[in-house]
Amino acid sequence: MPEIILRDVMEADLPIFFEQQRDAAALHMAAFTSNDPHNWEAFLVHWTKIMADPTVVNKTILFQGQVVGNIATFIMFDEPSVAYGLGREYWGQGLATEALRQFLELVTTRPLFARAAKDNLGSLRVLQKCGFVISGEDKGFANARGVEIEEYILRLDIVPK
Ligand SMILES: CC(C)(COP(=O)(O)OP(=O)(O)OC[C@H]1O[C@@H](n2cnc3c(N)ncnc32)[C@H](O)[C@@H]1OP(=O)(O)O)[C@@H](O)C(=O)NCCC(=O)NCCS
Repeated sequence: MPEIILRDVMEADLPIFFEQQRDAAALHMAAFTSNDPHNWEAFLVHWTKIMADPTVVNKTILFQGQVVGNIATFIMFDEPSVAYGLGREYWGQGLATEALRQFLELVTTRPLFARAAKDNLGSLRVLQKCGFVISGEDKGFANARGVEIEEYILRLDIVPK
């Protein structure tokens, strides 16, 4: 298992998250992104807001001392939800799976929900490896693609022992 550490987000992480989330492949994959992912000011306003919001738990994902991404839980569509993103150079090493596994020990709210574009096979696999099951589907406008697309809704009921 990769040695992932989750810690509280620091202001110095934000420029790194900004670059990670605006990568073209990451935007396409995540699909339901902000409508202005290349705007640093808008990014900062968003993060200032969520970092002050007591209903949001946001963690920085560290691997070998590097900030590789972030993971968060927040209320979306009235349901406790989880989302995450990693810098592209860190994909494919099991890091998201291990980060989510650890996060689910910290955040024990259940049921916990997640959404992923139907073609976001990586995120669907990460969620399913951590026990989420597909519980529904929806459609929504994907800012990163400029069209409405279909997504799966996933749900987790178990708390790790
Ligand atoms: C989705 C994302 C977090 C996956 O991170 P990751 O660290 O590469 O994922 P892991 O290495 O833990 O992979 C877990 C599984 O998914 C599979 N997987 C990962 N990316 C994949 C892809 N693009 N296509 C198919 N399978 C993929 C892996 O092979 C692995 O499966 P296995 O254990 O059966 O071999 C990362 O690609 C990312 O940050 N994408 C952009 C943001 C995003 O989409 N966030 C989620 C929004 S819902």
